[in-house]
Amino acid sequence: MALLEVIGVQRSFYGVHALCGVDLKVGAGRITGLIGPNGAGKTTLFNCITGLVPPDRGRILLAGRDIAGMRPEQVSARGLVRTFQIARGLPRLSVLDNLLLYGGQQPGERMLPALLGSRAARRREQELIDRAVRIARRLNLMPVIRNPASDLSGGQKKLLEIGRALMSEPKLILLDEPVAGVNPALASEIGEHLKALVGEGITVLLIEHHMDMVARLCDQVVVMAEGRHLAEGSFAEMAADPRVQAAYMGRRRVAVA
Ligand SMILES: Nc1ncnc2c1ncn2[C@@H]1O[C@H](COP(=O)(O)OP(=O)(O)O)[C@@H](O)[C@H]1O
Ligand SMILES: [Mg+2]
Repeated sequence: MALLEVIGVQRSFYGVHALCGVDLKVGAGRITGLIGPNGAGKTTLFNCITGLVPPDRGRILLAGRDIAGMRPEQVSARGLVRTFQIARGLPRLSVLDNLLLYGGQQPGERMLPALLGSRAARRREQELIDRAVRIARRLNLMPVIRNPASDLSGGQKKLLEIGRALMSEPKLILLDEPVAGVNPALASEIGEHLKALVGEGITVLLIEHHMDMVARLCDQVVVMAEGRHLAEGSFAEMAADPRVQAAYMGRRRVAVA
């Protein structure tokens, strides 16, 4: 069974169809790439899957359970989190606090204030700090852990996004262009981090425009165009597919790295 299955998802904005019935499967324990020209509906699909924008129609099954229409915190509590194309977070807070903020958005955390000052609350806080430090270490963010997030380089902001996603101990991470605007060395480092996550049993669905990254990282590639699933297969198959090439014509070309 696929870890994530999208069935016939539709979404319009003011009468314009952004998603016209998308079907998609994401197998567990691998990196699936989601590519397609600008405006294909990739980010909107992420928004529907993660509860930011409810689909008008269709089903979204996470481990067999329909999550369509759930709120983002309900979706993330089920182990599905995402990063954003434009890094979010709170720029004036430190890297550590940005991480802790996400660890604090887990089920049951709303009870924390009631417990404040209690030993259980202090233990919970220490656990969260330990987890944040572990994540900062693995993402090479330790040197800047006390700095405000606004001081980070573009690449470090992307790493912080991934770190915030990891704080909620996800089964499935959706990444929206995690290396856009990042220098090549850091982009390849981010790629290595993603592979390591998959090695630990996390499943990844990756929107990416850098075709060398897609070729290197993705076991399976899904191509979207005009709000639909157009084709899927290995990267080499997709790059050679005339339908895919036609979809990219006059926009971005799929170049085999
Ligand atoms: N909140 C919104 N309001 C209106 N139109 C939107 C909204 N979100 C996405 N769209 C439209 O949906 C289409 C798909 O966009 P998007 O999902 O961002 O594509 P991609 O990520 O593949 O570039 C575009 O035509 C875009 O303008
Ligand atoms: Mg997008």
